[in-house]
Amino acid sequence: MPDLQGQEKDQKNYHVNTPFANQGTFHVKGADSLDWGMKTRLSNIFDPKTGNTVMFAFDHGYFMGSVTGLERLDIVIPSLLPHIDVLMGTRGALRTCVPPNSGKGVALRTSSGSSMLYDDLSHEVVAVDIEDAIRLNADCMAVQTFIGADGQLSSLDNLSRTVNDGMSYGIPTLGVVAVGKDMERTDRFFKLATRILAELGANLIKTYYCDKFEEIVAACPVPIVVAGGKKLPEAEAMTLAYHSMQGGARGLDMGRNIFQSEHPVQMAAAIRKIVHEGFTDKEAFQFYTDTTR
Ligand code: 5RP
Repeated sequence: MPDLQGQEKDQKNYHVNTPFANQGTFHVKGADSLDWGMKTRLSNIFDPKTGNTVMFAFDHGYFMGSVTGLERLDIVIPSLLPHIDVLMGTRGALRTCVPPNSGKGVALRTSSGSSMLYDDLSHEVVAVDIEDAIRLNADCMAVQTFIGADGQLSSLDNLSRTVNDGMSYGIPTLGVVAVGKDMERTDRFFKLATRILAELGANLIKTYYCDKFEEIVAACPVPIVVAGGKKLPEAEAMTLAYHSMQGGARGLDMGRNIFQSEHPVQMAAAIRKIVHEGFTDKEAFQFYTDTTR
């Protein structure tokens, strides 16, 4: 085992201005050597023209129940479909509330076991098996991981089992970096967490934005999608989205900042402008303001 203490003293160079050297001919980072089916599903997530994605996250109910803004999945989700690329949800929500002809990518929440009623959220299981992911035509399987928490080992075992099944059947794995209340939202933590998930075989990773984000992206050999996190004022959420994309994220996975916005449809459309049309945060907020007058 390397001397972990010694590692921290080295001056590291992430070559943030050097493009990924093993990109090959496929538009998704780290996927050039994967099979056709994996690439097809990754193309349903990351637009081949821009390489980016707008994921709408509505999987909160798997441990939070009917959160504000998601009281009626059957009403909220269809209204947002024109502005999103990927549906990030549970199998229960998809089957009951999402039109199967939506034509959108599916990031299927497959791990679960937490609930808001219990303090430790860090112990989950793989609840959705590969057969049901195939039935749902999932384009990736989302597994929550808890680096640094009590549930670390079991969550990384969940991820590895999902990667094993995903590689057997051609379905990518989305490694989700959870941040417990005692965890630090620093580049040191997110560099560790994102790299562990990528090394364990996750094909895309969802994490949070923080300082030195471009170094996190450079050190991670698969694409990173940024979670929106707690509800912010719309202008701040757009700045978060813009800084994430400028820092090398290949998309946003927003939930609360869309479904808890006063105008969710226009918010999703504005985020799309940043992700796929190169809008700045200021331009996107002007678009939002103009369309919600
Ligand atoms: C909830 C999740 C969500 O998918 C993720 O956090 C994005 O949602 P939000 O933008 O509301 O944070 O993993 O468990």
